[in-house]
Amino acid sequence: VRTKININTRGELVSCVGWTTADELYSCSEDHQILNWNLPTSETSIVVKLPDDLYPVDLHWFPKTVGGKKQAQAELFVLTSTDGKFHLVSKAGRIEKSVEAHKGAVLAARWNYDGSALITAGEDGQIKIWSKSGMLRSTLASHGSAVYSVAWGPDSDRILYTLGRQLVVKPLQPSSKVIQWKAHDGVVLKVDWNSVNDLILSGGQDCKYKVWDSYGRLLHSSSSHDYPVTSLSWAPDGEVFAVGSFNTLRLCDKTGWSYALEKPNTGSVFSLAWSADSTQLAGACGNGHVIFAHVVEQHWEWKNFIITLTKRRTMQVRNVMNDAVDVLEFRDRVIKSSLAYGHLVVATSLQCYVYKNWNTPLIFDLKEGTVSLILQAEKHFLLLDGAGLYIFSYEGRLISSPKFPGLRADILNAQGISLSNDTIAIRDKSDEKVILLFDTLTGKPCGDGKHLTHKLEVVEIALDQSGPSNDRKIALIDKNRDLYLTSVRHIGREPKICKIGKTLRGDLFVNHGVTIIWNDAANILCGIQDNQLTVWYYPSIIFTDKELLQKTLLTKDSSDFSRAPHILSFVGTLVTLRRGDGSLVYSNVLPYPALLHEYSASARWEDALRLCRFAKDQSLWACLAGMAMANRELNTAEMAYLPRVQYIKFIKELPSKESSLAHMLMFSGQVQEAEATLLQAGLIYQAIQVNIDLFNWERALELAVKHKTHVDTVLAYREKFLQRFGRMEMNKRFLQYSEGVEVNWEKIQAKIEVELSKEREKAANVSVRTSLATRR
Ligand SMILES: *[C@@H]1O[C@H](CO)[C@@H](O)[C@H](O)[C@H]1NC(C)=O
Ligand SMILES: *[C@@H]1O[C@H](CO)[C@@H](O)[C@H](O)[C@H]1NC(C)=O
Repeated sequence: VRTKININTRGELVSCVGWTTADELYSCSEDHQILNWNLPTSETSIVVKLPDDLYPVDLHWFPKTVGGKKQAQAELFVLTSTDGKFHLVSKAGRIEKSVEAHKGAVLAARWNYDGSALITAGEDGQIKIWSKSGMLRSTLASHGSAVYSVAWGPDSDRILYTLGRQLVVKPLQPSSKVIQWKAHDGVVLKVDWNSVNDLILSGGQDCKYKVWDSYGRLLHSSSSHDYPVTSLSWAPDGEVFAVGSFNTLRLCDKTGWSYALEKPNTGSVFSLAWSADSTQLAGACGNGHVIFAHVVEQHWEWKNFIITLTKRRTMQVRNVMNDAVDVLEFRDRVIKSSLAYGHLVVATSLQCYVYKNWNTPLIFDLKEGTVSLILQAEKHFLLLDGAGLYIFSYEGRLISSPKFPGLRADILNAQGISLSNDTIAIRDKSDEKVILLFDTLTGKPCGDGKHLTHKLEVVEIALDQSGPSNDRKIALIDKNRDLYLTSVRHIGREPKICKIGKTLRGDLFVNHGVTIIWNDAANILCGIQDNQLTVWYYPSIIFTDKELLQKTLLTKDSSDFSRAPHILSFVGTLVTLRRGDGSLVYSNVLPYPALLHEYSASARWEDALRLCRFAKDQSLWACLAGMAMANRELNTAEMAYLPRVQYIKFIKELPSKESSLAHMLMFSGQVQEAEATLLQAGLIYQAIQVNIDLFNWERALELAVKHKTHVDTVLAYREKFLQRFGRMEMNKRFLQYSEGVEVNWEKIQAKIEVELSKEREKAANVSVRTSLATRR
């Protein structure tokens, strides 16, 4: 991700900027002018010339929409000035009201989220709350030194302000606890607080910017810049923020690391403002410039596709398999995008595009221009905008739009909402212990309409994606960072909420993006637990045999995973993670657990047993034991609980001594020796099959080619394997051999039967001969 900058020169020092729409900006400067910048037409006009004694300091537009409803009130903004006043100014530039507010300059003013209150901070060290119409309600705080910056908390029930080197979070409720902490080694100049991720930003004279959680715990501290940090601002969606300093503009990820650094000739950047759709940024500059920047070069990856936003209205699609490149053009600016389950969904400022192939997107109009989140399930996708949430089919049909009292679509984020084919889960903002569950098709509450209630506040939720809907499970992380699993369809009885993990990543990273993620094709869960990448192969085992849970986990310990990463995706066998420094890390998971899920779902217990025998991984046996028990499949369960005994039984029943010996060698992990034993005994097919069962594809093909037998068998199994994981053949040797060879499963099966009966016959001959020999 990068910013692209345009600079516009005009007049004297610009002190503040604010967007009216995503395409129109107001700026105020020391030459007393308020300018209107129209981006599409590149035109600038003077809105009004203010009185000569009015020097503007800060401006903030009255909120446009509240809880999805457009405000009835005419558009206006608050403008503060050096003479201790604030002014309510109409869009046309008329000063509707001027209020004496502070002694000395009014340094900051902010409307709360529903526009029912205004807060101002002054050089006089006072913080005051005003009604919508500018009547003084109360003086919230009174200090001995100037307060430079203020921000509202997400629920408008607390405020954040600067106090020298400290930051203060003060609830409006007089009896509630104030949090105050030393934040910087110099005076703090700017703060911001994001309503979606609940994170706080601060920047100061010590030339640093920092990210905090709302309890005042430090999440990130930048290194020292050359100049004080004079401005900073969260993008409204909470994904990125911008930092301004002398001749410097920086774009950062919410976790603090820097995507891009620009060195425009601007002087100090005094104020930064994002458009409501989080795509455009404007800065007020000391040398009279207004700078505009927009975010480009975002990437999306899925299987073999990499998509890049190259310009505001252009995306490039690269297929890494064959390096084919497609270019997608949009009529309007791209705001949000998502790529999963073979579909690309792009929301522009006016329309939604759905691509299945790159030539013919399906396009439909959007009501609201500010999509803040797109979530995808295999069957449909969810769009979230300031007004509500909507489920669409990939054919562009509106399926449903769940509604509930207290819905604040403007502050929902990916951790608080989850989508599967059949269910939508939403963390309730008004009671964070509660998870609201809706049926995707109808948008009505699920089942008996009872929502899920956990004993503690929930911070993150994720629905599993596979299996029948009446088996749908949800994973949740609570305030203690413990991980739980429960069922979402629980008609008539209280669901069991069972703990399956603990302390998912250090508690300092509560808000730092997704930390658990379900696989797209099997109910396998992946998360970061105690700085290890952990994969729960079969989390539901907690409901049948919790003793076995620990045995079904895969943990990967690596310094790659310890540096505060979050998980971006878990598609097929590939986990993609973002490290604390912003770099991407990939980790592969073996395909066996997913196969086992598939076998269990289709009651192919013989195949499941075979897989476990060959994969020789204790965790698979544990999964199978749980799956068999859950399906009341006692024969398989018995075998899975006693894998060793079973394996010996299986070995005893093999047709020949050589096969038995080979499998005994495999049992103790001596794969090469096992293969050699079979080859020596002339059991070529069996040697090839052992390699197929272990997914040693290259070796299987090598043997088949060398002995000129069963090349088609290897190709057939390989094809099945690739299909299962949605991959294409990339191996040159396999491509080469598959050209001339026809794959016919019936023929192959028959050939295998012949091989096995030959082995039996041969073994019988041997035993006949031995018995003859002994008789003689
Ligand atoms: C989800 O929907 C897709 C498309 O209709 C379907 O192919 C898939 O099997 C469904 N998955 C589940 C778990 O129901
Ligand atoms: C078994 O013995 C019979 C007769 O001795 C022979 O014809 C046959 O080829 C042998 N089979 C194998 C697989 O060696």
